[in-house]
Amino acid sequence: MSRPAALNILSQRAARHEELGLGRSLRSMGQTSGRWVEVTGGKCLLLASNDYLGLSTHPRLARAAAEASLGCGTGSGASRLISGTLQCHVDLEDSIAQFKETESALFFATGYMANLGVVATLAGPGDVIVSDELNHASLIDACRLSKAEVKIYPHGEVAEAARLLAGAPAGAMKLLLTDGVFSMDGDLAPLPGLREAARENQALLVIDDAHATGVWGPRGRGSLDHFGLEPTPEVVMIGTFSKALGGLGGFMAGAREVTRSLVNGARSFIYTTAPPPAQAAAALAALELVDQLPQLREKLHELSALLRELLQEQGFKLLSPAGPIIPILVGPANKAVALGEGLLRRGVFAPAIRPPTVPEGTSRLRLAVSAAHEEEDMHLAAGALAEAAREVGL
Ligand SMILES: Cc1ncc(COP(=O)(O)O)c(C=O)c1O
Repeated sequence: MSRPAALNILSQRAARHEELGLGRSLRSMGQTSGRWVEVTGGKCLLLASNDYLGLSTHPRLARAAAEASLGCGTGSGASRLISGTLQCHVDLEDSIAQFKETESALFFATGYMANLGVVATLAGPGDVIVSDELNHASLIDACRLSKAEVKIYPHGEVAEAARLLAGAPAGAMKLLLTDGVFSMDGDLAPLPGLREAARENQALLVIDDAHATGVWGPRGRGSLDHFGLEPTPEVVMIGTFSKALGGLGGFMAGAREVTRSLVNGARSFIYTTAPPPAQAAAALAALELVDQLPQLREKLHELSALLRELLQEQGFKLLSPAGPIIPILVGPANKAVALGEGLLRRGVFAPAIRPPTVPEGTSRLRLAVSAAHEEEDMHLAAGALAEAAREVGL
């Protein structure tokens, strides 16, 4: 039987993508320990996960999730505003607010949904969003959904962000939007300057701290903690439990007025079933562990510094000065894929990151270190990468 024309169109599009080296397919991972993973039948060093503290395999999280399921069931049954708000959600939100030192917090099913909900509720038609050019896709989608006027500033340029905010019409809601740590470059946003720019222009500063929560700052509170800044009321923090916190779920932490607006207006909060008890219980356990196990964060930063040093010795130029996200810039998508495959043949898994995840011509490998790793893993990774890079002529 012939295939419908619509499916042929999809096949043609896919073929064009493949030609450009941009085809994507799902690779199934076998068992993982946070350090090792089974890929295509072999055991490899895992350098492609955001499980920065190795908490996704921590028995305390697994136990908390299992006990919550056994005690409260596997589903919450309805959206938060109907009958889905359970005591575990309320406890978790109290705990998030305490952790982030804010007046209030709200739990979402994922970080992506938190970003959509926060930005599209706070800003609408007639409002202005000033957004860093390298912000995560979920913030970009959130801007589109808001229908506000979106002004993009060059990566990290505070003066330009301030100028764009100052140009917004009087009376408009102004949002200044940035990742706390940029997911594909690994650098921190210049938060002291951005917060000043937000203050001077009566704007809210929205920080997506997905890659900073649990990782950055002396207490692991995130990017503000790193800069020694208090979370003042004009700061709206967004985060996720899916990375350093080893589980799943997003959150907003900020002023009471923001939480009230979201409960009343965030469609990605209102029109979806509340996250199950297991997810909330694991999230709560993860927040506790960030406080109880500071040694994980210390180890993560030590290992990251070691890998960075070893890579620099091998002649690699790094895009950011510190932290567990270490991009190796390649350029063309096909070459980045070849480098990733070469690395995999040498027992290290860190696949290529290509457009549209990163800008055209900046395809790369994104190495991500975890506290689940050991020193010897950093040596293995640097050696394997140097060999694979020579093989592809990098
Ligand atoms: C910067 C950033 N924000 C938000 C998200 C979305 O978080 P989640 O995976 O919880 O949906 C991600 C990654 O997935 C991210 O990298």
